[in-house]
Amino acid sequence: MSFRIFHSFLLYILFFNLITRIDSYTPSPRYFVNSILVGTKIYFLGGWSKNSDGTEGCQNSVFYLDLSAPFDTRNNIPWTDLTSTAGIPVSTCWQVSALGGPDNSSIYAFGGMMLDKNITLSVDTTVYEFNTKTQQWNTLNISGTPPKRRKEIQIVQDNSGKVYMFGGLINPSTGSTKTRWFNDMNILDIIGMSWSKVSNSKHNAPPLQVDYTATMLNNSVIVYIGGRQTTSSSGKIKNYRSMEEIWTYDTKNASWILVTAIGTVPGVRIGHSAVLASDGRIIVFGGYDHNFSPANPELAVLDSSTSPFQWSLPNVSNPISPALAYHSATLIGDLMIVAFGNVTQQTSTTSDATSDIYILNISNYTWVTSTDTKIPSDSPINDTTPTENPSLSTSTTSTTSTTIPNDTTQAPSTTTMASSSGAISSHTAMVLGASIGSLSSVVVIVMFALLFLRWRKFKRIYANKEAYPGVLNTSSTAYHQYK
Ligand SMILES: *[C@@H]1O[C@H](CO)[C@@H](O)[C@H](O)[C@H]1NC(C)=O
Ligand SMILES: *[C@@H]1O[C@H](CO)[C@@H](O)[C@H](O)[C@H]1NC(C)=O
Ligand SMILES: *[C@@H]1O[C@H](CO)[C@@H](O)[C@H](O)[C@H]1NC(C)=O
Ligand SMILES: *[C@@H]1O[C@H](CO)[C@@H](O)[C@H](O)[C@H]1NC(C)=O
Ligand SMILES: *[C@@H]1O[C@H](CO)[C@@H](O)[C@H](O)[C@H]1NC(C)=O
Ligand SMILES: *[C@@H]1O[C@H](CO)[C@@H](O)[C@H](O)[C@H]1NC(C)=O
Ligand SMILES: *[C@@H]1O[C@H](CO)[C@@H](O)[C@H](O)[C@H]1NC(C)=O
Ligand SMILES: *[C@@H]1O[C@H](CO)[C@@H](O)[C@H](O)[C@H]1NC(C)=O
Ligand SMILES: *[C@@H]1O[C@H](CO)[C@@H](O)[C@H](O)[C@H]1NC(C)=O
Ligand SMILES: *[C@@H]1O[C@H](CO)[C@@H](O)[C@H](O)[C@H]1NC(C)=O
Ligand SMILES: *[C@@H]1O[C@H](CO)[C@@H](O)[C@H](O)[C@H]1NC(C)=O
Repeated sequence: MSFRIFHSFLLYILFFNLITRIDSYTPSPRYFVNSILVGTKIYFLGGWSKNSDGTEGCQNSVFYLDLSAPFDTRNNIPWTDLTSTAGIPVSTCWQVSALGGPDNSSIYAFGGMMLDKNITLSVDTTVYEFNTKTQQWNTLNISGTPPKRRKEIQIVQDNSGKVYMFGGLINPSTGSTKTRWFNDMNILDIIGMSWSKVSNSKHNAPPLQVDYTATMLNNSVIVYIGGRQTTSSSGKIKNYRSMEEIWTYDTKNASWILVTAIGTVPGVRIGHSAVLASDGRIIVFGGYDHNFSPANPELAVLDSSTSPFQWSLPNVSNPISPALAYHSATLIGDLMIVAFGNVTQQTSTTSDATSDIYILNISNYTWVTSTDTKIPSDSPINDTTPTENPSLSTSTTSTTSTTIPNDTTQAPSTTTMASSSGAISSHTAMVLGASIGSLSSVVVIVMFALLFLRWRKFKRIYANKEAYPGVLNTSSTAYHQYK
């Protein structure tokens, strides 16, 4: 191989790598996005984001993050966009979703704002089914009386296909002329395809409320954390809920119990997320305090395995910046994957949403930049075992929790922190040779490595040292954006 050929080869590789990077998809920054774990993929539906004409609004986007292979938040994030072929039939914000169907491969999405091209659709709740195998959307015929289409709710589901929807509100953004808050419990049975209202659900029930998180424990008790409440159905006088007083709903006997948690109680919040660890810890993250400043502290842990529940505020390593609200959080193994959200410490007015991904290892509360986790599967649906409580997803903030199957192998940890922030923008310009996110790039890198070895043979006759400045070390020009 002559040097000239080698030279062309190098240029080809550089070009190819650039193309690969340009082709890779990065969703636009957004919040109020619906998310749900299906097998090893986190599906994201809709959300509030910029339109192509620069205005903002709800989207009909459908895309997923594939967790079946390790990835790094700084490099090619394994996004796949389905919007052009499988967009939601309506544009949505604050939508919620549950999992069901054969192999748990269907997403049942409803609630929130739903808009066709011109108008807010009817006030009733239409449940849409997205079959992730066929990538088809269907409208379902569901018996019973559906609750009015609400927003600022979270739903949870149990093992028997029952989806629990509590409270929420309707207002002009959901197609209602009036604002009305709720505190009733509605159940969607996604196996029997029916809606029902729990008749005694208001007995000893919490006040009307929104913006909480909902977590289903493995004893079938739902834990509602944070949010806002009111006693007037118009929601005129409302206040943030204390994080000390925690409402629980026992799905076995439809009864409410108010638990006063002990420990170090974190500050109030809305727009936060909550995921359940297998040992009973509920990891609460992010959200707004009063006055739309970041919830304090951002990360708090409620131990639901003790009676009463106990709060703790762990010491967090490599804390991320910016603070987030209305993001999505999904637990897979001991990694909490945080995506999207509104930046609560915004100093610039140019952009307030993000499409970045952040990863917290909840074993030692360290923010890391790569998953380093092999989730065994390329047959996404039936390889992973969603837990007994594959939770919810929400309008404000979406959370899902699952356990990795016990045969999961964990790659040796090679996590590196690129900066004091665990947060790395996925839309920052990419550096050559670092795009290890896609197979094609891996191939290119292997070729590059082989050629590099080869190149060393030509080193001595390689006169023009300036020909390829920085080719081999560009990946160190890291991505520091959000400070
Ligand atoms: C939406 O508006 C456009 C023009 O304003 C109109 O042509 C179209 O029929 C409307 N579509 C619906 C579903 O109302
Ligand atoms: C739903 O009901 C309508 C009318 O009641 C019917 O025309 C339609 O075929 C049904 N769709 C499904 C999927 O069953
Ligand atoms: C779907 O997930 C639920 C909840 O984890 C589980 O109980 C059920 O067995 C699963 N169904 C199928 C068909 O895998
Ligand atoms: C419901 O069950 C829980 C747990 O078994 C119990 O503590 C509670 O008293 C029950 N509530 C009612 C109204 O029966
Ligand atoms: C239920 O969760 C508790 C922690 O709250 C855990 O100790 C227990 O093993 C779990 N039970 C099952 C059956 O998973
Ligand atoms: C956090 O760190 C401080 C000082 O290093 C220590 O005193 C405190 O106990 C730690 N808190 C927790 C929850 O580990
Ligand atoms: C998002 O953040 C920006 C800047 O902090 C703020 O002005 C805006 O109200 C926030 N939007 C929502 C829906 O919270
Ligand atoms: C999370 O941290 C624990 C403790 O350092 C470590 O053993 C585990 O491998 C980490 N998990 C992942 C997926 O990196
Ligand atoms: C936590 O675990 C991660 C992954 O194993 C490791 O990189 C990090 O150093 C650990 N952090 C602390 C504070 O031990
Ligand atoms: C997984 O799904 C595929 C296709 O849907 C099926 O052929 C296969 O038998 C399933 N495997 C298991 C373990 O259920
Ligand atoms: C993993 O799960 C299988 C069955 O699901 C069980 O037989 C096996 O003992 C488990 N292994 C471990 C290490 O828990």
